[in-house]
Amino acid sequence: MSRPVDPDTLRQRLTAQQPEWPTGRLQAGPGARTVDCARVRCVALTFDDGPGKYTGQVLDMLAAHNARATFFVIGRNVTPEFRPQLARIVAEGHEIGNHTWNHPQLNSLSQAKLTDELGRTNKIIAAYTGVRPHTLRPPYGMTNAKVAREAKRQGLAQILWTVDTVDWKDHNTAVVLKRARQARPGAIVLLHETVKTTVAAVPQILKHFDRQGYTYVTVSELFGEQYLQPGEKYKEHVGMIQ
Ligand code: NI
Repeated sequence: MSRPVDPDTLRQRLTAQQPEWPTGRLQAGPGARTVDCARVRCVALTFDDGPGKYTGQVLDMLAAHNARATFFVIGRNVTPEFRPQLARIVAEGHEIGNHTWNHPQLNSLSQAKLTDELGRTNKIIAAYTGVRPHTLRPPYGMTNAKVAREAKRQGLAQILWTVDTVDWKDHNTAVVLKRARQARPGAIVLLHETVKTTVAAVPQILKHFDRQGYTYVTVSELFGEQYLQPGEKYKEHVGMIQ
């Protein structure tokens, strides 16, 4: 649906745009817009556990609605097979975040393992896309002070969620849609791009938020004016609206 992107050209272009890294205040990634989520109705859809066989489909659906989202990818899934999808994520204005290398419970790891889980994933994402992630989604939302310290050291803000669709458990399109609809302005919605029934629900989820006049934002855009801080935890934008 979108024009093909030459990954090498893209990487060079994006690398040239990268700010100093890491910084105390995290800049939104390349292509990020300034959206005032205190005044407009924002929703941040997040897709975890990819890239995978449905990534292209999800990107097509988002493109059809002019919607941006955040993809929290698993390092070990970042392979040559998915190079085109990874390039598209960045080229089409989505955010790419770190979802660890092996998807472990980070709060149970040794310091060495923890460092490796985050660091290897940051590196491979940068190698494939030219973008260094600055957001981390801890698997299962499990984190602690040690994880926070390491995330801070590696320039990653911790992104949790407001609305959990529990899509991985139910495998039911109607239920996923119903849960996603509970989102209010400023919400972060947790979805999994690896679950077929979730992918099937995406067009209806988008139709719902379109009807409600939402602006689709990446997580960094959601917190734009507040600036994400490395190591800190975020679960929703608390603003003026409603
Ligand atoms: Ni996950």
